[in-house]
Amino acid sequence: MTDVSSSVSADGRVPDSPFLQTLFHSDQGGHEQVVLCQDRASGLKAVIAIHSTALGPALGGTRFHAYASDEEAVMDALNLARGMSYKNAMAGLGLGGGKAVIIGDPETMKTEELLLAYGRFVASLGGRYVTACDVGTYVQDMDVIARVNKWTTGRSPENGGCGDSSVLTSYGVFQGMRAAARHRWGTPSLAGRTVGVAGVGKVGHYLVDHLISDGADVVVTDVREESIARVLAAHPKVRVAASTDDLIRLPLDVYAPCALGGALSDETVPALTAKIVCGAANNQLAHPGVEKDLADRGILYAPDYVVNAGGVIQVADELHGFSMDRARAKASLIYDTTLEIFAKADADGIPPAVAADRIAEQRMSEAKQA
Ligand SMILES: NC(=O)c1ccc[n+]([C@@H]2O[C@H](COP(=O)([O-])OP(=O)(O)OC[C@H]3O[C@@H](n4cnc5c(N)ncnc54)[C@H](O)[C@@H]3O)[C@@H](O)[C@H]2O)c1
Repeated sequence: MTDVSSSVSADGRVPDSPFLQTLFHSDQGGHEQVVLCQDRASGLKAVIAIHSTALGPALGGTRFHAYASDEEAVMDALNLARGMSYKNAMAGLGLGGGKAVIIGDPETMKTEELLLAYGRFVASLGGRYVTACDVGTYVQDMDVIARVNKWTTGRSPENGGCGDSSVLTSYGVFQGMRAAARHRWGTPSLAGRTVGVAGVGKVGHYLVDHLISDGADVVVTDVREESIARVLAAHPKVRVAASTDDLIRLPLDVYAPCALGGALSDETVPALTAKIVCGAANNQLAHPGVEKDLADRGILYAPDYVVNAGGVIQVADELHGFSMDRARAKASLIYDTTLEIFAKADADGIPPAVAADRIAEQRMSEAKQA
């Protein structure tokens, strides 16, 4: 047995860990429930974080990742769950926000036994948490997890699932971009506009399809040659920039970050030529305050979690028996939501990212009071 007496201070108090500080004491907290899950037989160690069920069951994916420490895993689950509350609130899904992480290297640890053990923990929450794919988990994993609970989305079409969620993610980003164009230039059309897409993976390459259909002039960049080759095979006239650094300095009307988080930083914002930023990547603002730098430079930023909600809209539809038509109709509302955010930002004299947060918080607090 481990002796814990050394962590008790002279006055008999056990100091809070960073995650307990976050959970119970900071503005970033406010989570309803955090579940630590362990199944020694399969090696499962997981964290399910439910940030809010004010608007409905907490939906968010399961990340399978080799974290540097268990504490880092808990913090990631807390942050991601909170983000899902805001995304789901803005998407008008009648769902709250949650997220789970499975701790370990999916390459070596992922087994059917482990996924089933995890699925039983999801079941134990009786529908308070609904899971889906995230980094390190795939449609076929959701099919396994769904065998032991009713609260798993992101399954394969053969199992009643919606398949590849990047289809509606890209469609939603396109709708957000049309709204931004309307707000900025008075027309939603992107015809004749130059749009730079950084990252043409699952979402980015579908986004290029939408942009080309609308008549935009598209420039792309990606670190993977296969990704670029796929775009060029479909659209030979698309131009290619050597790097994201090069792309953002070209004369662009719109910049669409569709690769990793942190695309908008103290280094990149001063270099942007685009008048609109609207892309699929999660957590584009490298730190709080960047949204103000963008506004100060006159750049219209369409908040990431608002415009990339098409994917969660697509998987959430599985809860009603999946219909692509219904899900697409819901994703098209991202256009109206984005316009509403810009209008509030203008009216209140705040950046759109702050306006989006305020609307999401208001929706959650009104639902709690009802
Ligand atoms: N897939 C979805 O449904 C979905 C939903 C919401 C948000 N997102 C977010 O959208 C982004 C893209 O997701 P995805 O599913 O298309 O991922 P993906 O892995 O299929 O595509 C990402 C692409 O970005 C490229 N890339 C990586 N680093 C780069 C760099 N430094 N410069 C240029 N290109 C780079 C990769 O080579 C890849 O082609 C991610 O941030 C993801 O979290 C995706």
